[in-house]
Amino acid sequence: MNQSVTVRVPAKINLQLAVGPLRPDGYHDLVTVFHAVDLCDEVTVALAEEDTDSVAVSGEGAAQVPADGGNLAMRAVRALRARAGMAGNVRIRIIKRIPVAAGMAGGSADAAGALVACDELWGTGLPAAELSALAAQLGSDVPFALLGGTAVGRGRGEQLSPLAGDSAATYHWVLAYADGGLSTPLVYKTLDQLRDGRDVPAPGLSDELVEALRAGDPFRLGRALGNDLQAPALSLFPALNETLAAGRSLGSLGALVSGSGPTCFFLARDAEHAASLAARMREAGACRSVAVATGPAAGASVITTEDATRHG
Ligand code: C5P
Repeated sequence: MNQSVTVRVPAKINLQLAVGPLRPDGYHDLVTVFHAVDLCDEVTVALAEEDTDSVAVSGEGAAQVPADGGNLAMRAVRALRARAGMAGNVRIRIIKRIPVAAGMAGGSADAAGALVACDELWGTGLPAAELSALAAQLGSDVPFALLGGTAVGRGRGEQLSPLAGDSAATYHWVLAYADGGLSTPLVYKTLDQLRDGRDVPAPGLSDELVEALRAGDPFRLGRALGNDLQAPALSLFPALNETLAAGRSLGSLGALVSGSGPTCFFLARDAEHAASLAARMREAGACRSVAVATGPAAGASVITTEDATRHG
């Protein structure tokens, strides 16, 4: 029997994020194109002798992540334990690389990682559709962290259909991390305020974006990027205007706020262009730090398991 399972789980960016009107349940109907990038958290879940669950977080922004029952990975473990009728406590260890409250679904990634790790640890073997339904109860972006790749999200973002793009295409991104975070509910609320009661049409998928992905053409993709949450994110975090302007003037093919922000991302032609764009973004200094990433990346995947014999 496995004593411990480690899962790698990717961050996401939204290549398109079209937001419809506010729904009676407090969410907004979306049409979004999720894209997983190879910036990953690692989530390890181990069987514990202790009589409570525990979580320890290290890495990028760890101090801002709750290490108690409010932790999304802990909530995921508890949800799966209840769903699968399991008993026994676990120790969760999270190594963060995805920045916190940054619009890259880092918390959702940790929840998805914990679901996959516990499913393997306990041998629950839930069908993918059931794991995805459980994930959707934890947060709108959690099902996509399970799936990875590039996919259209509808509803709250939890209804996914993989996008058949050019399967050979890899995109090269430069990520600009901001100093500070943004609250997702506040960004949505600010969008509603900016819309000022005007009629908002149902969101629709960008044909141009889908065509660009089908063709695997980064130049077209760069022109087709779009995010309805960018305007409210910029109004709450005006420094992002400079970050976006820096990336545009340094020759990115496209520049956008990621999800509800404040991370901004920039599309490069290829790996070499991404490295030089990242270096020049660092020099420009219009953000806290800069990273490069490629996509699409795989969804939450088991990378190591340790069994009882190795633990003695
Ligand atoms: O689903 P999740 O907990 O990640 O969503 C966080 C918050 O983001 C929600 O409480 C809501 O305010 C906002 N949201 C929304 N419409 C969506 C997804 C999220 O208004 N489709």
